[in-house]
Amino acid sequence: MKLDFEEHGSGFPVVLLHAFPLSRQMWKPQIASLATQNIRLILPDLYGFGGTGIEGDISRLEEMAADIGALIDRLGIKQAVIGGLSMGGYVTFNLYRLRPELFRAMILCDTNSAADTQEKRENRFKLIENVIENGTQALIDNMLPNLTGSFTKANNKDLTAKLTRMFAETDPLAAIAALRGMAERSDHTYLLPEIEVPTLLIFGEEDELTDLKIAEGMHEKIKDSRLSVIKDAGHYSNLEQPEQFDQAVVSFIREIIG
Ligand code: MLT
Repeated sequence: MKLDFEEHGSGFPVVLLHAFPLSRQMWKPQIASLATQNIRLILPDLYGFGGTGIEGDISRLEEMAADIGALIDRLGIKQAVIGGLSMGGYVTFNLYRLRPELFRAMILCDTNSAADTQEKRENRFKLIENVIENGTQALIDNMLPNLTGSFTKANNKDLTAKLTRMFAETDPLAAIAALRGMAERSDHTYLLPEIEVPTLLIFGEEDELTDLKIAEGMHEKIKDSRLSVIKDAGHYSNLEQPEQFDQAVVSFIREIIG
């Protein structure tokens, strides 16, 4: 499927893949600070989110990854820094497995190489039932409270309101299809020692969904990796603390590309 996307700036290509149930809009705070740093920032929408259509009732992460590869090819790009946050990270692992030659470096934010446990899978199916019944309100009620950190909850009501709006705008069918895709995703932990490119791990200190234990486990297994812990941020580290997040990305890219 052809993915909708936007791009900003010129320089070395950096592709960032968004989280569930958001869209490329989640990278808005990054545009001004990254696209002025000799970076060509490419922001695709994954299946059913933002401007990209949906195909069928399950959005497979492997197929999304193949389409990201096709988009990079179409743009005439041989190598890029490729990364994603949470679901975007799950797609990044799939893309590295399918097309490692496209990676100059990797950025993994608030994500996990492991597949869902049986319990998590069962919870996803319950959430699907809930979305069928109540639409995206089910996501707002059941997911959102566990995503942002305590600092954001106490000090950034605007972001909470914005995330609530973004969740509400999600197409319920796209959310259901992506939940099914995440529930059946493969475990990519075996791939971590095979990652040959410099890798930056960025995790919110207060992330409860993909916590620092997960981050440290991946950091140990990926040879050329560094871990940047974002203070006063939960799962949405780029939105909760954009300055710290952008600084981590820019200094990594300077280190890798010069
Ligand atoms: C995300 O932030 O992309 C999702 O919460 C990931 C997930 O549900 O596993």
